Amino acid sequence: TRRITVRDITTAKERGEKWPMLTAYDAMTASVFDEAGIPVMLVGDSMGNCHLGYETTVPVTLDEMAMLCAAVVRGTSRALIVGDLPFGTYQEGPAQALRSALRLVKDAGVGAVKLEGGERSHRQIELLVESGIPVMAHIGLTPQSVNTMGYRVQGRGEEAAQQLLRDAKAVQDAGAFAVVLELVPAELAAEVTRVLHIPTVGIGAGAQCDAQVLVWTDMMGLTAGKMPRFVKQYADVRRVMSNAAQAFAEDVVGGAFPAEEHAVH
Ligand code: KIV
Ligand code: NA
Repeated sequence: TRRITVRDITTAKERGEKWPMLTAYDAMTASVFDEAGIPVMLVGDSMGNCHLGYETTVPVTLDEMAMLCAAVVRGTSRALIVGDLPFGTYQEGPAQALRSALRLVKDAGVGAVKLEGGERSHRQIELLVESGIPVMAHIGLTPQSVNTMGYRVQGRGEEAAQQLLRDAKAVQDAGAFAVVLELVPAELAAEVTRVLHIPTVGIGAGAQCDAQVLVWTDMMGLTAGKMPRFVKQYADVRRVMSNAAQAFAEDVVGGAFPAEEHAVH
């Protein structure tokens, strides 16, 4: 079996097939999703929150991203792996974006990179694609801009909707193979999906997108606290792990573990 390619993703839209994407941050989890048939995995900079305990994605470094991307690539054999370019590793311009992307492609082995921004990032996307690196764009809510944007729904109102459409066309024209739409009204996301020939990947963007992405720790119930409305919880991993940890602790304290069958003689 060979890896899924961006070409497979492109033909899926032509055939009208929807596809799922999950984030992954380590080899073991990624191998589970690979065996489960998830075709595209994103080593998102959400790993800053999920994995490294940062408040936002802003502090994530390229070294951290490269390490986790390499782990996810090693843990998979079939999925297309997309690595997020962290904040500050592409904003200076196309040359910086290319240096950063090459790190993830050459050293970590990802098949594509993702970066945030529509019109504002089109020059970066153009150079990467010209250089042979597939780019997934990301518009709507862009969490790396939390300090200017906050975490609000994007594209509400006529002017904001027109800007989102311009951003979507800009990344398509620049050569992106897909575009994430984050926290965008469903009607607007549906329009973007109709207008573009590249697939839209929705998160909090309604049912009409060509693909859907969720942060794995959110959708499996590992993340603590209240989830956004757009997250569907498919498992209660936090409870499963907590129960197992408590049972182990009780067994050790009470002398029930290890039992005879766990001992070597
Ligand atoms: O970092 C991430 O997990 C993402 C997805 C939410 C699209 O960018
Ligand atoms: Na991200």
